[in-house]
Amino acid sequence: MQTKRTIIISNRLPIRIEKQDGKLLFIPSEGGLATGLGSYYKKGGSIWVGWPGYIPETTEEEQLIREELARHNLIPVFLSAQELEDYYEGFSNEILWPICHYRLSYAVFDKSYWAAYQQVNQKFCDATLAQHITEKDEIWVHDYQLMLLPQLLRQQNNYLTIGYFQHIPFPADEIFRCIPWRNELLKGLLGADLIAFHTYHDAQHFLNSCLNILHLSPKNNSVRCRDRRVHVEVFPMGIDFEKFEQLSKSADVLSRVQALQEQYQNRKIILSIDRLDYSKGILERLAAYENLLQTYPELRNRVVLYMLVVPSRDNVAQYKLLRDEIDRMVGHINAVYGSDEWIPITYFYNSLSIEDLSALYVAADICLVTSLRDGMNLVCKEYIASKSQQQDGVLILSEFAGAAKELPETIQINPYSIDDITEAIHLALYMPRREQQQRMKSNITLVKKFNISHWVKLFFNRLHEIKREQKAHASR
Ligand code: G6P
Repeated sequence: MQTKRTIIISNRLPIRIEKQDGKLLFIPSEGGLATGLGSYYKKGGSIWVGWPGYIPETTEEEQLIREELARHNLIPVFLSAQELEDYYEGFSNEILWPICHYRLSYAVFDKSYWAAYQQVNQKFCDATLAQHITEKDEIWVHDYQLMLLPQLLRQQNNYLTIGYFQHIPFPADEIFRCIPWRNELLKGLLGADLIAFHTYHDAQHFLNSCLNILHLSPKNNSVRCRDRRVHVEVFPMGIDFEKFEQLSKSADVLSRVQALQEQYQNRKIILSIDRLDYSKGILERLAAYENLLQTYPELRNRVVLYMLVVPSRDNVAQYKLLRDEIDRMVGHINAVYGSDEWIPITYFYNSLSIEDLSALYVAADICLVTSLRDGMNLVCKEYIASKSQQQDGVLILSEFAGAAKELPETIQINPYSIDDITEAIHLALYMPRREQQQRMKSNITLVKKFNISHWVKLFFNRLHEIKREQKAHASR
């Protein structure tokens, strides 16, 4: 008898392939999802289906990759350059991403993007079905790149157990309805048994879209879809708290912290870490930092903004423009306010090792998160977990990040107000250590308790409960 397997499906696999000097490198992803689900998908023949971030050059190479990944229970879905352009850069990141992040004017409603999105979702479906999926398995589809997949799978077998989690926000129905293929997308998601979001508002927006676009009336946070009831619920994602806590105490990280402290002497470090993205409010943050140096000149040479921007989606036009504008603003601020002994912004457009990241979290006096719209934002939770030793440091958090709902003991700001961000930084710089510790302690308790394994457990418990209810109902 076949045992129950967990099938995780996401656009990216938790391993990324790169070729260096003719050799294939299999690089494990540091992402929250990969660590959180790591123990699940490796158990009992469970699998993870996704794109390995690489286009094989020959069929032999493709075969070799398949075999190597299979040893880790990973099933690759290979995408051509054209598919990446139209499905990933196009439909996912030039339509769904801007729409979900309220940038309607950035959306490019290109028909060929839609054709590729359908085709690639079907490709993911075929790759999953090739694993001989049965009703015993539990399938968990992740994120906006795969909105059609739940229904594609459902069509194959009405009794499958399918969950979907959206890591990015869901927009108000008036914005979602601008997408020419909105009905198909909603129906695609409704193939799942449980559709989950980070926040209450995201779930409500989705239910409103079901009502106002598909004319399906929600009842108790669920929608009836022919013979099935689809549940729409809230599961705020956590992080691997222990990993960040342990790292922050390690000798290796502590020596990097010391190096940072020597480099910046007694200056306060304001930390900013994001993927390159217009949803993160990076330009607003820079404008606020300049405003701070103008309004409070006594702070010059006493603070430093350490800004790390991780390269992302650099073939998409809006990302290129943003990068140029960041370069321009950083250059301007450093040139105008800097001196022989002080550079106001340390800026890197790069990725860092987890040890360097951890050292930055430990060393930073302030972590500045100014997202204009963000599903959850895990950086702020990583900062908190890295502070469990000294329990000091101040988190300035955008009220538009999902995490704001969970972390009341932070300084919350409206990132559209440059003055609001400026005053928050000023307040944080002068916050007494005792108050910092009181606030940080309560944040630590929350992030520790609602960690990633708690999130995974809650999601699967609920999915199983829904399936049990469905079965009981069917047998009545
Ligand atoms: C967000 C999305 C993920 C995505 C990640 C990185 O967190 O929710 O689905 O994988 O950004 O973006 P990328 O386009 O590089 O996969």
